[in-house]
Amino acid sequence: MRNIVLTGFMGTGKSTIGRHLSRRLDMPLIDTDQLIAKQAGKPITQIFEEDGEAAFRAVEAEVCQQAARSEGHVIATGGGAVLNIDTAEALAANGVLICLTADIETIMGRVGQNPGRPLFQNYEGVLKLMSERAKVYAMLPHHVDTTDRTPEESTDEVIRIWKQSNSE
Ligand code: S3P
Repeated sequence: MRNIVLTGFMGTGKSTIGRHLSRRLDMPLIDTDQLIAKQAGKPITQIFEEDGEAAFRAVEAEVCQQAARSEGHVIATGGGAVLNIDTAEALAANGVLICLTADIETIMGRVGQNPGRPLFQNYEGVLKLMSERAKVYAMLPHHVDTTDRTPEESTDEVIRIWKQSNSE
């Protein structure tokens, strides 16, 4: 069974929908940010502060590529993971890559309530980062817009895509 890999910008619902999918499909969840923090023994903000973004990206690539070798898992990645082409290819080789999206107002609202993201700044900063990444996210094979959907509705849509991909 192919993995379900959730990616997309911060605040699009990867961790929340990952948990829903895991419960609904009875598939184990790998949250790569949680694994990175566990491996480093400190939260992601502290990794960025003390070791820098490049060090974070190196561990992220390693953790994601290891996760990609599993089977029948739900994998929720950090928003920047698929910017690394080797990581994106490894995740796609064994899984259905689904990019979650949301409009910027929704993202600001969701992430503003849940800080701890070193790359999350003000509206202009988020807009800039979103437009820098837009091309990479657009290249991914599937997209689910979570803006006006409840987590349950987004989960339904992800399951529909995943089942369809498994039967192809
Ligand atoms: C990042 C997103 C974060 C986390 C790190 C970097 C990014 O994960 O991996 O702060 O580059 O977009 P979420 O997308 O789960 O917030």
